[in-house]
Amino acid sequence: MTQELKGSRALVFGGTSGIGLASARALAASGAAVGVVGSTAGNLEAALKALPDGSRGFAVDAADGAAIAGALADFGAFDHLVVCVGGGSAIGPYRDLTEEKMRAGFDNKFWHYQRITRAALAHLRGAGSITWVTGAAARLAIRGMAGLAATNGALHAMVGPLALELAPLRVNAVSPGFIDTPYWRKAMPEAAREKLYADMAAVVPVRRVGTAEDVAGAVVMLAANGFFTGAILDCDGGRHLGA
Ligand SMILES: NC(=O)c1ccc[n+]([C@@H]2O[C@H](COP(=O)([O-])OP(=O)(O)OC[C@H]3O[C@@H](n4cnc5c(N)ncnc54)[C@H](OP(=O)(O)O)[C@@H]3O)[C@@H](O)[C@H]2O)c1
Repeated sequence: MTQELKGSRALVFGGTSGIGLASARALAASGAAVGVVGSTAGNLEAALKALPDGSRGFAVDAADGAAIAGALADFGAFDHLVVCVGGGSAIGPYRDLTEEKMRAGFDNKFWHYQRITRAALAHLRGAGSITWVTGAAARLAIRGMAGLAATNGALHAMVGPLALELAPLRVNAVSPGFIDTPYWRKAMPEAAREKLYADMAAVVPVRRVGTAEDVAGAVVMLAANGFFTGAILDCDGGRHLGA
């Protein structure tokens, strides 16, 4: 049965930009009171302007366990956790992927997700949900993406066991394909980005790159639908089907 998000409280780590901000907006539009967390004050200030009055915001580095605990205590009991913190540092051909780069990939995503999720358990209400935003590289063989596959694949491998262990709390993941977000806008100049977007659009059945709102719709569905747990939802325009 679809749960009513009205009256619920949701906290989005990595909620100040891109997929996380779109998710926070969509959760709020569905009736949840939301909080967002990001590491930089500038992003946080801009995000709060894009969210309804009364939304909460916390400038916290996901590497800092004490700061995470402080933000969670300040936010108080809540129903839906979304973890959408930026990752992306383990990209490149395997021959160039040093152990240092691979470790950074895990530090910047896998371990952030664990630190946040474990700390949040003390504050999450039993009938709520956890949604991790992972990445399509985990389920696809893409050259240069072995590092990302490992990081996101490790998260995918945990979804089922956690859904069993933490029940009745529900645990799911959304696995996005290529999504137009500020991450890519910061990562490369416009001309190179446009070329990359065209290349990415060409290899998906829907023939376009995704939007943050596409993924946010999946996040809201997993939070609201009380019959989803242990699910990994591909939100990738059909990319997982192969080129
Ligand atoms: N965009 C894609 O094509 C794509 C595809 C598959 C999966 N994903 C995954 O989706 C998630 C979001 O990506 P996005 O494209 O939406 O990126 P984004 O626009 O760069 O947003 C990343 C968010 O994470 C926050 N963040 C980053 N490092 C942090 C830290 N150390 N502590 C706390 N917050 C931190 C950022 O805020 P601050 O900058 O203020 O810290 C921001 O709110 C990532 O896990 C990414 O791997 C993205």
